[in-house]
Amino acid sequence: MKDLDWNNLGFSYIKTDYRFIAHWKDGKWDEGKLTTDNMLHIHEGSTEIHYGQQCFEGLKAYRCKDGSINLFRPDQNAKRMQHTSDRLLMPRVPTELFIRACKEVVKANQEWLGPYGSGATLYLRPFLFGTGENIGVKTAPEFIFSVFCCPVGAYFKGGLAPSNFITTDYDRAAPMGTGGVKVGGNYAASLLPHELAAEASTPERKFADAIYLDPKTHTKIEEVGAANFFGITKDNKFITPASESILPSITKYSLLYIAKERLGMEAIEGDVYIDQLNQFAEAGACGTAAVISPIERIDDLENGKSYVISKDGKPGPVCEKLYNKLRGIQYGDEPDTHGWVTIVE
Ligand code: PLP
Ligand code: COI
Repeated sequence: MKDLDWNNLGFSYIKTDYRFIAHWKDGKWDEGKLTTDNMLHIHEGSTEIHYGQQCFEGLKAYRCKDGSINLFRPDQNAKRMQHTSDRLLMPRVPTELFIRACKEVVKANQEWLGPYGSGATLYLRPFLFGTGENIGVKTAPEFIFSVFCCPVGAYFKGGLAPSNFITTDYDRAAPMGTGGVKVGGNYAASLLPHELAAEASTPERKFADAIYLDPKTHTKIEEVGAANFFGITKDNKFITPASESILPSITKYSLLYIAKERLGMEAIEGDVYIDQLNQFAEAGACGTAAVISPIERIDDLENGKSYVISKDGKPGPVCEKLYNKLRGIQYGDEPDTHGWVTIVE
């Protein structure tokens, strides 16, 4: 195992030893292979550079108590990437190729995955983009699919400590646009709102990111930065928004299941109006990188209102239970009744 400060990793790029790369040309994928080269040499006319014909995924590898390594629902990431590819007229990466690439990258870089109990995971970044000679606005003649990985800790600095968020006038996506798929353009559009959150911060109160409201009416919560939103009502229901412009989070669907089947809660997808945040005893952001990040407070700068959800700087009891159950399944400590975990041999 590498000599890293495993308990205190943030979310930054650390160069690991191997990455996987596969090429699509003349209608088919090659086998793909591992390489130590972390630089890409691509055509200047690549559609990815000019027209944003690209997408990515994010999933993690977990070190279990017995030293083995788990991937969490990689088939769902493969499926989501295929759905994104359809929207951007890119060739689908077959699920077999996607999962094989992830497993090979984890195996080749297992020295970079910290010990069980440290909180460190190996974050995998699969990505797909159009390349090759081109200038017109059309789908590329060639594509590259690659997967690299980095050891990571908490995405939002507080980790399980509650974070603060703002709303802004900006949208990350449009109705019937690309909000529901994982394309880089959504994240380019989020850089300015993220910056505004940092600028709104004071020494007393840091804002971790921007919350996105529905692009049609700006009245309903959609996303929390690069994570989905969920709330726990005062009568103990798990509610998470449903909308075409929200990225369908694999973590969110896992939590809907855990809340219902393991915690016996009513768990639903439905509208979450920003002016009705007072219905919640707890709220959080969820995602692969974010895991579960409880929300302390949302400042709705558009309407000049503040909503304080958690007051004592600690995660609420339901957030904590959801976190423990989810982590338990990911690390192989809780029964995996639905085949969510893939063991990397
Ligand atoms: N929403 C956005 C915009 C994201 O970037 C992510 C991260 O992937 C999520 C939600 C959470 O999705 P998942 O749980 O599949 O990682
Ligand atoms: C993930 O959780 O995998 C994400 O995509 C967040 C990322 C943009 C940092």
